[in-house]
Amino acid sequence: MAKGTGMSKALAVGIGVLTVSSVCGLVLMAVMYKIQIDKYPPVSPPTPTKPLVIPTGLQPTLRIPDNLIPESYKVFLQPYLYAAVTNNYTNQSLVFTGNSTVRVKCMTDSKSIFLHVHNLNVMTVEVTKSDSNEKLSVRGYKIHQNESNFLKIQLKETMSGNGTYYDIFTKFEGELLDNLAGFYVKNSNIITVVNFYLLLLQPPDARKVFPCFDEPALKAVILFSITSIFVLSLEADTTEIDGEEWIVTTFAETPIMSTYLLAFTVSDFTYKSKSSGTNINIHARSDAINAGHADYAIEVTEKIMIYYQNIFGFKYPLKKIDQTALPDISAGAMENWGFISYQESGLLYDKETASTFDQERVATMISHELAHQWFGNLRDVIVLREVQTAFQVDSLNSSHPLSLQENYIQTFSEIIDLFDDITYRKVGINAFLMLISFIYKKLLQYNIETKEDVEAFMSTWIEQVGYPVITIITQTRETSQEQFLLKQTGEWLLANVNCTGFFRVIPLINRGQLIDGLIVTIALSLTKHLINDTEYIPWESALKNLDHLILMFDRSEVYGPIMKYLRKQITQLYKHFEEYTLNGTIPEKHTDQYNQVNAISVACSNGLPECIEMAKRLFKDYRNGTDNIQPNLRRAIYCSAIVSGDEYDWEFAWKEYQRATVTAEKDKRRYALSCTKEIWLLNRYLQYTLDPSKIRKMDLVSTINYIAKNVAGQPLAWDFVRAHWSYITQEYGAGAISLGSLLDAVTKGSPRTLNLKRCCCPKLCYSLILLVIQVIERTEANIKWVKENKQTVKEWFMGEL
Ligand SMILES: *[C@@H]1O[C@H](CO)[C@@H](O)[C@H](O)[C@H]1NC(C)=O
Ligand SMILES: *[C@@H]1O[C@H](CO)[C@@H](O)[C@H](O)[C@H]1NC(C)=O
Ligand SMILES: *[C@@H]1O[C@H](CO)[C@@H](O)[C@H](O)[C@H]1NC(C)=O
Ligand SMILES: *[C@@H]1O[C@H](CO)[C@@H](O)[C@H](O)[C@H]1NC(C)=O
Ligand SMILES: *[C@@H]1O[C@H](CO)[C@@H](O)[C@H](O)[C@H]1NC(C)=O
Ligand SMILES: *[C@@H]1O[C@H](CO)[C@@H](O)[C@H](O)[C@H]1NC(C)=O
Ligand SMILES: *[C@@H]1O[C@H](CO)[C@@H](O)[C@H](O)[C@H]1NC(C)=O
Ligand SMILES: *[C@@H]1O[C@H](CO)[C@@H](O)[C@H](O)[C@H]1NC(C)=O
Ligand SMILES: *[C@@H]1O[C@H](CO)[C@@H](O)[C@H](O)[C@H]1NC(C)=O
Ligand SMILES: *[C@@H]1O[C@H](CO)[C@@H](O)[C@H](O)[C@H]1NC(C)=O
Repeated sequence: MAKGTGMSKALAVGIGVLTVSSVCGLVLMAVMYKIQIDKYPPVSPPTPTKPLVIPTGLQPTLRIPDNLIPESYKVFLQPYLYAAVTNNYTNQSLVFTGNSTVRVKCMTDSKSIFLHVHNLNVMTVEVTKSDSNEKLSVRGYKIHQNESNFLKIQLKETMSGNGTYYDIFTKFEGELLDNLAGFYVKNSNIITVVNFYLLLLQPPDARKVFPCFDEPALKAVILFSITSIFVLSLEADTTEIDGEEWIVTTFAETPIMSTYLLAFTVSDFTYKSKSSGTNINIHARSDAINAGHADYAIEVTEKIMIYYQNIFGFKYPLKKIDQTALPDISAGAMENWGFISYQESGLLYDKETASTFDQERVATMISHELAHQWFGNLRDVIVLREVQTAFQVDSLNSSHPLSLQENYIQTFSEIIDLFDDITYRKVGINAFLMLISFIYKKLLQYNIETKEDVEAFMSTWIEQVGYPVITIITQTRETSQEQFLLKQTGEWLLANVNCTGFFRVIPLINRGQLIDGLIVTIALSLTKHLINDTEYIPWESALKNLDHLILMFDRSEVYGPIMKYLRKQITQLYKHFEEYTLNGTIPEKHTDQYNQVNAISVACSNGLPECIEMAKRLFKDYRNGTDNIQPNLRRAIYCSAIVSGDEYDWEFAWKEYQRATVTAEKDKRRYALSCTKEIWLLNRYLQYTLDPSKIRKMDLVSTINYIAKNVAGQPLAWDFVRAHWSYITQEYGAGAISLGSLLDAVTKGSPRTLNLKRCCCPKLCYSLILLVIQVIERTEANIKWVKENKQTVKEWFMGEL
């Protein structure tokens, strides 16, 4: 699961999946020189910051007791995809019934059994001794109506704790909700998906499907059978139930695994296969398969599998790898064992309409999802995005350590709280690269690293919050460190961040880093050189930071001079790519392709006349039936055409959005629609997000995020989110990670416009308490920063004109 939108969402997913299980993590270290050493002598290292304690008023332990160890599950499910029942929220929903036998080994004499269930109605409970089939009398059972999600079964007799096996049989029923969580159903084309909280990136969902020991450490064999209309399975029997014909699919017994790794889909999709040792199957809507949109995924998957096999020297352990493209799924992708589900844009590729970035996203997503162990050769582009985002959040006092003691993470909402930029990005990139370079150094020293070494080294990073500033006095070689906090950022000069020493483009990376960490005028002075710079990394890094500056000042008188300055700086870059833009040809270098897009979006959004003319002309041709816009540029060009266009242009783009069948293309139009400055269009667009026939549910969050990024839309989006919070959380269910990104986006704008007191409506606070604390701290820091720097910033920009 991932927060954020578009590309970064996709990346974050991949990264999260890659790393959580195997890397506990450390933090990228920022090495800094001090400018005025005489004024501020180094201080000795402070004591580590304790993790932020979030008061929840809950019992210290909600963990399942360890008296029983699950060995195997035998689960039967039967979803009824046509018989609707009444549901207060959605008015109708579908049901499933099931039964399950879990075999447990009893380790302590006990009379009670605890299992996890959530939103299930349990009708029957039977406990038998496995070897003799002897029944134990059940005194009663009860589902705890609180956050523990426990089903407690009370026995009359005692189970012997000497390793005796027992079978716990339950019959249950539940609802299939259209909320993208647990066992959910998409009525449009009858897709049913179970997404158990995978790799801790999803809140726990297995308990919504069958009573189970839903903790990652409690692993068991699972034998799964589903009786339904369509199932993702290549062999199935039919059977007659109540005079109707049903398909019964019994899956092969799984290896010993955690419950959260299990997933299946039931759909009317078709698939395309290729066998190269492992069966590679890509499942999708039949029209997409028939149009060849899965071909690229097959090709990429095969290459990557071969590559990994060579690199790691061992074979993929399962016989098949199923990958499926779902029209509506809350995360960018979900990785389960042998079965990965993606948003359509992460797996399907239409070479007619796709941009280079769309293609790259498919390749990146697939390689990330397939690669649990593989981390090498990460592109500098990813580092730039992910590292800097992690730095930003982790410079807040209300940030949290990567690893919290287990009694801080007990409930559903506490688990959800942890799915933020720290967990994804700090773990994902920083942590891993640090570990690699540590081990690499050890190897170079012919020093075989011991477990203790790694543990000692890593624990300082994973158990403490933040990242350090290291002060080096060059004359005396004295060093010291302290936690880097946004609030206290003084006169530090980021002088040497080699990131990891893993990148070929070291000088470029450093230029990128330089602009990120600096105090404002030094930072701004560095952007002067951009006028002659055509490289992507310095531009991207500068723009990212300037974006923040614009966010802080876009409603003030400082904004005019900023725009003028940017227009001046971007002109060369725009001209550098103009021939390509007008010819409709693609620059050869990958980073140039990205930079061309930067050139156009910055030039157009800051009012460079040539750019606006170009965008208008191309869009007009498009309206007139000749679409000559090069796919890479569509996002930027549609957007600026909508900004300078009228209601009819918007309506045209809306129709085109609805007409598009390829998700990647649809997404570009959906984004462009958010660019208008017309308040009434933006408000109407926000309303559309509540109607799944207009904006698909999985796109709700990112659409509101797009609107919030627009200066005209930010206050509208903020009001809208608060007004519809209940509806959004209800519809989104376990998509709560995205809800975090939503809250983040709608509160990011100009600090003046954000009323802190209104920030925390009780519902919002309850479900996302840590994030709300971070938002408040960030907003306070921003207000302070704006107050202190506004005059300086204004004078600087005026002086440059
Ligand atoms: C949950 O409810 C059960 C029964 O009502 C109670 O015994 C238990 O202490 C509660 N647990 C928490 C964490 O509130
Ligand atoms: C659903 O609505 C009915 C009738 O309004 C009400 O009696 C019932 O308590 C509601 N159920 C829930 C779970 O809110
Ligand atoms: C459910 O039905 C009621 C009454 O017909 C209606 O007012 C409400 O808008 C419906 N809700 C949804 C989510 O369709
Ligand atoms: C469990 O469900 C399956 C499929 O519906 C059924 O065939 C089986 O008899 C059930 N088991 C029991 C013990 O009820
Ligand atoms: C466990 O203890 C029960 C009596 O409490 C006994 O009948 C059984 O044989 C013992 N099993 C093992 C595996 O020792
Ligand atoms: C950070 O938070 C701690 C307690 O949560 C507080 O004592 C400390 O003063 C805070 N530091 C800053 C710089 O705000
Ligand atoms: C930075 O990386 C480069 C290239 O790997 C290496 O030559 C250089 O020594 C590194 N610098 C530091 C300070 O680690
Ligand atoms: C940019 O290049 C021009 C021409 O080479 C030069 O005159 C100017 O000083 C350069 N500007 C900066 C900021 O480097
Ligand atoms: C643009 O088109 C012209 C004329 O066809 C050609 O000479 C030129 O090389 C093209 N430029 C680029 C950058 O593709
Ligand atoms: C649209 O195209 C037609 C012919 O294809 C042309 O006659 C007309 O002038 C064009 N309109 C605009 C606004 O470009």
